[in-house]
Amino acid sequence: MAKIVAGFGTSHTPAIGAALDLGKKDEPYWAPLFKGYEPAKQWMDEVKPDVVIMVYNDHVNAFDFKIIPTFAIGCADEFGIADEGWGARPVPVVKGYPEFASHLVQSLVLDEFDITIVNDMEVDHGLTVPMSLAFGQPDAWPARVIPLSVNVIQYPAPTGNRCYNLGKAIKKAVESWDEDLKVVIFGTGGMSHQIQHERAGLINKPWDTAFLDDLTANPQRLVEMKPLEYLREAGNEAIELVMWLTMRGALGDDAQEVYRFYHVPASSTGVGHIIIETKDFYEERHGKKAA
Ligand code: DHB
Ligand code: FE
Repeated sequence: MAKIVAGFGTSHTPAIGAALDLGKKDEPYWAPLFKGYEPAKQWMDEVKPDVVIMVYNDHVNAFDFKIIPTFAIGCADEFGIADEGWGARPVPVVKGYPEFASHLVQSLVLDEFDITIVNDMEVDHGLTVPMSLAFGQPDAWPARVIPLSVNVIQYPAPTGNRCYNLGKAIKKAVESWDEDLKVVIFGTGGMSHQIQHERAGLINKPWDTAFLDDLTANPQRLVEMKPLEYLREAGNEAIELVMWLTMRGALGDDAQEVYRFYHVPASSTGVGHIIIETKDFYEERHGKKAA
């Protein structure tokens, strides 16, 4: 059967993609950030997932303000790279998995999550920057990707609680697919940032650190957090972090944090990264009991 083995949380700051694409990765501003993602790439290279479920948000590229689905799953064979105004990023086309994606849609809708089916779309920095941070700059991405887009652009975004429960339903959906597949689920966006108006540039490191601490140890606190707290404490765009709760919900209890990285500055964003393995995968991989 298919199994989610781990969660990969990461910010998606577009300037990170630009730094990579323009060959600036070793410059003093960027070098510490990319160094912090080296263990992540190594981890990915060892784990070699067959499929990535990418919980991400579109930034008015695939969906303009005419149609804004709260939750949408990409069921296409492949997804082109969006031109966000400065040309499409020079990264490989993203290969999907239509049969598996359709199965997820069916299971989730029957589980009473209203998922929009998307058969044709392009993906923006919300998806491609996490791919680059996890897999580097290959000629072709080494895993198939199921994009699961969440509206965090136009009020109201779904609550953390709903996103967490969606994660639980995704776990169930994945485990009811017969094929042996190793799946890693991504939670992307955040951490603290506000990119416009008077508080532009706001970063709240203690708040971000507490979020990372509780994501593994005490997700219930985050699940109950009201949307306004994200905005007030960590800036307008911190609401992207609800997507990390979908990832966390899909990992089950007793999941184990195995890597963490936090870095400021990177454009306007507090950049955070975490890898959390499920209890079973942790015990199999490390040959010892999860704490
Ligand atoms: C920035 C961060 C984002 O999440 C985004 O979508 C756009 C810009 C930034 O920090 O510059
Ligand atoms: Fe964003």
